[in-house]
Amino acid sequence: MKINGETKLIGFFGSTFRTSKMYAMYNAVFEKLSLNFVYVPFDVVDIKKGVEAIKTLGIHAVGVTIPFKISIMEHLDELDENAKKIGAVNVVVNRNGKLIGGNTDGKGGVRALREKTEVKRKKIILLGAGGAARALAFAIKDEGGNLTIVNRTISEAEALAKVVDCRFGGLEKLPELLPTTDILINSTSVGMIPHNNQSLVDKKFLHKKLTVMDIVSNPKETKLLREAKESGCQIVFADRMLLWQGVLKFKIYTGVEPPVDVMEKALQITSH
Ligand code: ATR
Repeated sequence: MKINGETKLIGFFGSTFRTSKMYAMYNAVFEKLSLNFVYVPFDVVDIKKGVEAIKTLGIHAVGVTIPFKISIMEHLDELDENAKKIGAVNVVVNRNGKLIGGNTDGKGGVRALREKTEVKRKKIILLGAGGAARALAFAIKDEGGNLTIVNRTISEAEALAKVVDCRFGGLEKLPELLPTTDILINSTSVGMIPHNNQSLVDKKFLHKKLTVMDIVSNPKETKLLREAKESGCQIVFADRMLLWQGVLKFKIYTGVEPPVDVMEKALQITSH
């Protein structure tokens, strides 16, 4: 990688800046395609000042994650349609001094699903009604999926279903819904280390025609995904979502379609 006076700087704003795999992923492709960009971490203390710095220093774009996805919004000049609907931002581009926020989280999830199954017209259960569920819910609707939001707190499911325009229910609905469901997505934190012995879905309701995706990435194979595999379901690991939201961001950063295999290799992930 050659840094010179023309090099465009892409920054990472988020508490995981020390451990993120995104540097390897983006910089490998910049190198491969001889694009004059570099992706670097920033230790942001104050998000307002962080945003000012994007303008002051002429930073080309930034990737945004927790805890800034919502708090960054009020400091930006514009939000694209996805960011507006989802109410959170995971990417900011600097267009000649104008900062525009976008969000590739949900679309990345749909792209990950589409490696294994169509989404359009499929019966889909989305477990959860938090920020991650919200991003996925809009993207699934945009793709033409037939969506039901299922959540422990039913009022949260109802509130999200109202804005997304889909059905909703509580966890007790799962036995009734699952037999005719095509795709099941866990977008709650259930199953994450140290609670990796937990799953919201009883194994006996998992069936062969189901594709199951989990947003929990630690462990890679959650209890839900393990039991889904044992039940003959197709499974989609969370790191496929990470890959695809990154692929979509790459296009936003550079205007160039990235070679997905190079990004995959840099992330050291496979679809199996
Ligand atoms: P995020 O923004 O990462 O999605 P969040 O907004 O805190 O996180 O949402 C967490 C989601 O996980 C919620 O849907 C939550 O359900 P409630 O609305 O009932 O709180 C769900 N969740 C977390 N722990 C859970 C548990 N032990 N059982 C069932 N659902 C759980």
